Amino acid sequence: MKDEVLCEVTTSQLETGLRGIPVGYCVTSKVDPQKGLFYMKTAVSELTDWEPERVIALLYFGRDLDEKELQTFKEELRSRATCSPKLLYQITQLPREGHPMELFPTALLIAGMVGLQGDYREDCLEVIAKIPHLTAAVINHHAGWGKTADPDPSLGYMENFVHLLNLPEKKEGLVEAMRLFNILHYDHGGGNLSAFVGKTIASGLEDLYGSLAGAMCALAGPRHGAANQESLRFVKEAMEALGTKATLEEVANYIEGKLERKELIFGFGHAVLRVEDPRATVQYALAEETYAEDPLVRMALLLRTAVPEVLKRNPKIQNPYPNVDAISASLLSAAGFPYSEYHTLLFGMARVVGIAIQIVYERCEAREGRGTPIVRPKYLFKERNCESV
Ligand code: MLT
Repeated sequence: MKDEVLCEVTTSQLETGLRGIPVGYCVTSKVDPQKGLFYMKTAVSELTDWEPERVIALLYFGRDLDEKELQTFKEELRSRATCSPKLLYQITQLPREGHPMELFPTALLIAGMVGLQGDYREDCLEVIAKIPHLTAAVINHHAGWGKTADPDPSLGYMENFVHLLNLPEKKEGLVEAMRLFNILHYDHGGGNLSAFVGKTIASGLEDLYGSLAGAMCALAGPRHGAANQESLRFVKEAMEALGTKATLEEVANYIEGKLERKELIFGFGHAVLRVEDPRATVQYALAEETYAEDPLVRMALLLRTAVPEVLKRNPKIQNPYPNVDAISASLLSAAGFPYSEYHTLLFGMARVVGIAIQIVYERCEAREGRGTPIVRPKYLFKERNCESV
């Protein structure tokens, strides 16, 4: 391939989180600032009615499988879907005082201790197949909902996940909401923090489980995966302040007040996107169609209209529009999963799919199969003002 200059880097770009600086290739997805997320070359808005296994296959094989191939892949995942009794027992010994996003990476490390194959492709399929069972076991243990059953081979990927959750109540639309959430969160280009961290750890030849555990620690922060929990809290606070019958004008005034007090607005803006996140658009549609009367959804829909109009008045704001987190947890709550402490865990359960596949590319396929080298960026030495320490 002909070498070409991609960009100029100046000192003003140092300490900006590598924003806009190319560092590698992503072979699973891309995020266009104006069009949003594409899995391979398919916009996510075009695959919202696909089965999870079909979307996973698109990311894993790089193409849409025919019906026969898809059935074979589904059988492959079904054959690997059950976690070992040893792993399930160890999950029940994890401290319930921990946040679910501390139990999740721990469970991934334990899964590696008891089930590592030592081959990135093999371990990738194992993780993708087992992650619904592992995640359900973490949630059931942490929530005190009792023993986790084994997956039912007659059920699909996300039907099984909901089947495995010992929820006090299972509302009819929950599987659909969980399926949509799962599909939309598999991947988001190569540079989202958890994917970048997972690949970076793997560049040191750590195994897949350790790399994914580190990636999930990156996802746990409120600037990344936990943003969906923060966004739900933001919607709840608006509802508590304005009631369940607020008008658009009252919501706009409420947002203006928060900005005047320099308080954060959660669920809006994005480092790459410059439009409403298509993943939010898709979820707003399901929310509006099925749960419009739910008070959280009603407030989230009012915020969808009010917040951008207020944020646009500030020329420094590059993206005033909703991102995926603006509606995701409100929709899950309305659909029957109001347990906000597990919403980031659901994001992680999905994102390990895309990160695992990206790690397989970098470890097994990049650079004519040699794999990428250990990540080692350059830092410039700078004397700091020691009085400020
Ligand atoms: C994601 O899906 O990972 C988030 O939108 C954050 C990002 O893309 O950087």
